[in-house]
Amino acid sequence: MAKEFKRYLVTSALPYANGPVHIGHLAGVYIPSDIYTRYLRLKGCDVISVCGSDEHGVPITIKARKEGVSPQQIVDRYHELIRKSFEGLGMSFDIYSRTSSKTHAETASAFFRKLYDEGKFIEKTSMQYYDEEAQTFLADRYIVGTCPKCGNDRAYGDQCEKCGSTLSPDELIDPHSAVSGSVPVKRETKHWYLPLDQYEGFLREWILEGHREWKSNVYGQCKSWLDGGLQPRAVSRDLDWGIPVPVEGAEGKVLYVWFDAPIGYISATKDLTPDWEKYWKSEDTKMVHFIGKDNIVFHCIVFPSMLKAHGGYILPENVPANEFLNLEGDKISTSRNWAVWLHEYLEEFLGKEDVLRYVLCANAPETKDNDFTWKDFQARNNNELVAILGNFVNRALVLTKKYYDGRVPACGELTGYDRETIAEVAAVKASLEANIEHYRFREALKDAMNISRIGNKYLADTEPWKVVKTDPERVKTILNVALQITANTAIAIEPFMPFSSAKILKMLAVDKFGWERLGAMDLVPDGHAIGEPELLFEKIEDDVIQRQLDKLAATKAANQAAEAAQHVEPQKDTIQFDDFQKMDIRVSTILAAEKVAKTKKLLKLTVDTGIDKREIVSGIAEHFTPEELVGKQVLVLVNLAPRELKGILSKGMILMAEDASGKLRLLQPGDTTNNGAVVG
Ligand code: MF3
Ligand code: ZN
Repeated sequence: MAKEFKRYLVTSALPYANGPVHIGHLAGVYIPSDIYTRYLRLKGCDVISVCGSDEHGVPITIKARKEGVSPQQIVDRYHELIRKSFEGLGMSFDIYSRTSSKTHAETASAFFRKLYDEGKFIEKTSMQYYDEEAQTFLADRYIVGTCPKCGNDRAYGDQCEKCGSTLSPDELIDPHSAVSGSVPVKRETKHWYLPLDQYEGFLREWILEGHREWKSNVYGQCKSWLDGGLQPRAVSRDLDWGIPVPVEGAEGKVLYVWFDAPIGYISATKDLTPDWEKYWKSEDTKMVHFIGKDNIVFHCIVFPSMLKAHGGYILPENVPANEFLNLEGDKISTSRNWAVWLHEYLEEFLGKEDVLRYVLCANAPETKDNDFTWKDFQARNNNELVAILGNFVNRALVLTKKYYDGRVPACGELTGYDRETIAEVAAVKASLEANIEHYRFREALKDAMNISRIGNKYLADTEPWKVVKTDPERVKTILNVALQITANTAIAIEPFMPFSSAKILKMLAVDKFGWERLGAMDLVPDGHAIGEPELLFEKIEDDVIQRQLDKLAATKAANQAAEAAQHVEPQKDTIQFDDFQKMDIRVSTILAAEKVAKTKKLLKLTVDTGIDKREIVSGIAEHFTPEELVGKQVLVLVNLAPRELKGILSKGMILMAEDASGKLRLLQPGDTTNNGAVVG
């Protein structure tokens, strides 16, 4: 028997306030959590949904340093941006708090202090990297060096972003400080550790025995952590940004961000209601954590161990973590700007909040990583939202307007087909509920959409626009049924597409229904006057999609150029001045250029070297057209031994610069000068 709960506490991973939110966050965490919460609210459950900004941690200090502003300025900026854009998308958190709040500092400190006083931590000194120039210990993120796995020379002490390996600072080749650039030394430092190994038994029983129903990706990750053996985890850091460790002799030390952030769920609840304890301390509260897969260990292993160590708090009943969403085949990346940013979407797609909500749910990475493409976005809008949902609602309303001046016609005697249709609509409820309650939101969305599919089919089969000529009484019944289905649609889609649901209700001129009314056929009464029909969704044209694809292409090009610019060939062996003097380099003008027949790469150039006019064969046909070369002044190595290429005697070499991507550029004198001018 499933346990009965009296109330729900829904948490959504607190986004780091060091950048805006993108579609990956939305599909992974926030869309599912909002669907779940809205559903429970519509059902009339006692539910609260808490979220807020995660405002501590090293990436925030790095970003601040880069921009030359304070960490506080960074978090203020992004907290506001994220809060606003969540609101714009219709996220219905009961509170969107922040971990820089006073409540949070107090709550997290008291939490730490209790564990400290009760001897739940172990204290350990260890050797950690210290930057003598900047006089600061270095978080793993602050140490850069060469990745031992792939050779990327900009790997971090915790991770290589190029090959994705998890690293420790000790593995880095040639480590140096990202703060000052100096080579760090090792220094002794003391920290507090939560001995996770002592919680292994509890976790095994609670998760591996007690929560076999968790999603297999989540359960699997927990099992592999537990099977790998848990180690004590440091819960403090040497850093000047964070909540001070509330212990004597801990100057310069703050709580580790992953210690304080989940406590943020508690502080947010406190900020929301004085009655917060009933959500956190009563066994009949069902707590559900919505997170992305990179957060699983913290929410399933670390935070529960903290809660257990503290005592008095409930544990999550489920942690329905999603996998990752990719964008056009590539991993979403904040640093490479490879993302669709929520705040930009909201500006560029005004009034299309639900389209994004729909596409991200329909395509959510529930069981495996998934790909967002703009073509799919367009197709789902045009073929599903416009063609099915929008079309059905529009037909039902417009026909009512047309035939009955907007008054709901009375329902006459139902045919067998009517009854079948009504039964089909009613049957959606159970499946939709089961899917939402089991965190299968993609399937749930299909169920919700099915109601308008059924409605569309009903209108197509009953053809009221034809029947009206022969049997007007019958059409009253058809449209009454269609309007009831329309109202049902508004209920079913509310958790997924709240804006469109509200729009339908407005067009029907009725108040919001409770979930229990789903399936009912008396939602809009006979004779009721409906409002003005409007289009629920509009078609998205190719040019709109193309603009987004162009934007991404520009990002990709910029990234490639930046990457190429970073890679520099090592310096060659030392030569003497005499070696250099042997080379005779002259300013020359290209007089003519043509492709060498039957080759792909070769151009025959005629150049005026000031000394003579001569021919040079150059392998640059894939980089330059003959037209763009003619007339250009370039630098030519004129005393290179002549060489025959495809029957042409090539006497010299045009100097070029080649970047890491293989792109060639001509070397030209800064000002036009006479041919034959000596370079040296
Ligand atoms: N800021 C973290 C992330 O974006 C999530 C923190 S969740 C919390 O990955 F539980 F710690 F708050
Ligand atoms: Zn690497």
